[in-house]
Amino acid sequence: MHPLLTVVLAAGKGTRMKSTLPKVLHPIAGLAMVGHVLHAARAAGSGVTAIVVGPGMEAVARAAHHEAGEGEIFVQEEQLGTGHAVLAARRLLERHQGDVMVLYGDTPLITGKTLKRLRAALDAGAAVAVLGFRPADPSGYGRLLSDGAGNLLAIREEKDATEGEKAVGFCNSGVMAFRTTALVSLLDRIRNANAKGEYYLTDAVEIAHADGLRAAAVECPEREVMGVNSRDQLAAAERIWQEERRLEVMRGGATLIAPETVWLSHDTRIGQDVVIEPNVFFGPGVTVEDRVIIKANTHIQGFDQKSRDGVVIRSGAEIGPFARIRPGADIGPDVHIGNFVEVKNAKMEAGAKANHLAYVGDGLVGAGANIGAGTIFCNYDGYFKHRTTIGAGAFIGSNSSLVAPVNIGSGAYVASGSVITKDVSADALAITRPQQSERPDWAAKFRTMMQRRKAGAAGK
Ligand code: UD1
Ligand code: MG
Repeated sequence: MHPLLTVVLAAGKGTRMKSTLPKVLHPIAGLAMVGHVLHAARAAGSGVTAIVVGPGMEAVARAAHHEAGEGEIFVQEEQLGTGHAVLAARRLLERHQGDVMVLYGDTPLITGKTLKRLRAALDAGAAVAVLGFRPADPSGYGRLLSDGAGNLLAIREEKDATEGEKAVGFCNSGVMAFRTTALVSLLDRIRNANAKGEYYLTDAVEIAHADGLRAAAVECPEREVMGVNSRDQLAAAERIWQEERRLEVMRGGATLIAPETVWLSHDTRIGQDVVIEPNVFFGPGVTVEDRVIIKANTHIQGFDQKSRDGVVIRSGAEIGPFARIRPGADIGPDVHIGNFVEVKNAKMEAGAKANHLAYVGDGLVGAGANIGAGTIFCNYDGYFKHRTTIGAGAFIGSNSSLVAPVNIGSGAYVASGSVITKDVSADALAITRPQQSERPDWAAKFRTMMQRRKAGAAGK
């Protein structure tokens, strides 16, 4: 076995993004681009990761640590080219016995499957393997120059290419893999005598060839190696990612009535026989079990910056239309959540219902309990959050305010319009509104009086 070390180049600031956020931290499907790249590397069997960042890019380092765990960060003080960038990880490269793969942090659509194919070229005897593609428009890319017998001889950057070389349509994606004990010596021999005055990693191919080592190219579809340099390319990458993921979800046995209107996150998990109506949004950290129905215009948030709690929607539940499910919601089996209901950090046990206009926050709703329209869990006093618990089978009448911390016993009734500030015993009725009184014929007398008064006023 050849252990695999991946070097991710992420030192570029990405000035065309016009952002204070380093380019590789811009998200696709809710995950930083560099996170996608690290996931693909791991899927291809990469054990160790080196991430090369520019000075002052601690945020990238933090994100990379979050995604790669064991990843090591190297700072490339000056951006002198891709060859120079890889050597920023020299300490790790010199220690490493095995294959080395170089990826770009701004190429988020690369897949583990393709990277495995690239590695297979090393198993087949190449010392250097380059991932190539045939773009609709090759301008700007390095061209892969081959000998016709499957051997890659050189990579020529566009700025240094002759007219003949520019006519080659097979281009360098930037992804390269190496199996050589002499990698560092290969990289050390790269010179910057070229149009850009940079140390080109791509020159490693020609140097390897001169050493009698074999280089090979492996082809992949253009969309997998699309680089993101601007906000419109970010949106284009997002669109491609979403299209592919929706197909996977449908292949997994879910119905998406209007797939193009469903937005998924990088980690959304959707079970079988799930139906998703149009305009549904999944933030990161959402799991949907089998036979769930998510009706139109539902927003399911999952993780956010403050909370690391995801959302789980258990089998047979029905959500929406127009529901808002937020971090920490655990929607139990066969639960019904209706229109304009918000659930946050709350567990709803099997068969519980909140069918219309409610806020269920920081609480527990027991099995089969019914939360009437307009019920609010008053969970926040302006300083602290408090919990509300509702026992199994309890019935909360419409327009009730449950002022937390408060417990409603199982089987209890809360009368409509009550403001509950004290615990309610099991099977009791709690009612806090004034008693209703009635004045017979009052309305009829009132009407007559007012009509007269109005007629009098008009006569004046
Ligand atoms: C590179 C390739 C080119 C390929 C193209 C694919 C070289 C010399 N050329 O060109 O053959 O067709 O990508 O998109 O490799 N980086 C650093 N430090 C540096 C320079 C670059 O970390 O000093 C990083 C950048 O942040 C970027 C990546 O390396 O993620 C590629 O650099 P870039 O300058 O975009 O190279 P290209 O000119 O696009
Ligand atoms: Mg580039």
